[in-house]
Amino acid sequence: MQWLPQGIRYFPEYLNRVAQEQLVTDIRSVVAQAPLYTPVMPKTGTPMSVRMTNCGPLGWVTDKERGYRYQLDHPVTGAPWPAIPPVLLELWNAVSGCNLPPQACLINFYSDTAKMGLHQDKDEQALNAPVVSISLGNTCLFRVGGVKREDKTQSFRLASGDVVVLGGEGRLCFHGVDKIYPTTSTLLKQGGRVNLTLRRVTL
Ligand code: SIN
Ligand code: FE2
Repeated sequence: MQWLPQGIRYFPEYLNRVAQEQLVTDIRSVVAQAPLYTPVMPKTGTPMSVRMTNCGPLGWVTDKERGYRYQLDHPVTGAPWPAIPPVLLELWNAVSGCNLPPQACLINFYSDTAKMGLHQDKDEQALNAPVVSISLGNTCLFRVGGVKREDKTQSFRLASGDVVVLGGEGRLCFHGVDKIYPTTSTLLKQGGRVNLTLRRVTL
């Protein structure tokens, strides 16, 4: 890694193997209540390559008609999202520097061929609070740039247990996932990668 934009903090190997396994157990329980679904892009309806679900009072969703937003219920089942596991609330308290709790935890499941285009996380009112990202499973190539799409970017690998905080001046940095490296982790028995992002949504 050459440099990181101001406000972006990288904590490699933040979670040890046992903590990662416990977190996977928690996430499996969330997914059992709030199944992964395939989100589609606003307007075009093009499916994303990641599958998603959420936990917390609010969940981030997208569909063709209504676009990107937060809502109280699962778009397929209509049920309220399950609670954010306590260990994630503790992690937020440890790294976010924010004294209000996160309201949403977006769960992205990447198959080994999935990726995510360069984007900003800007559907939250609380841009003073950071986005806290936790990686589990196979390593990915993560790309991060500046606050303008055309700003130069750099890529680095995020491995299982790594945590990234996008806060301060880095809160609105463009970021994305270029690729997943298959068979780089034994954490998820079926392969792939899970990314969790904890967000504060309202002020
Ligand atoms: C995201 O930007 O929502 C996910 C980032 C990641 O998968 O590391
Ligand atoms: Fe994002």
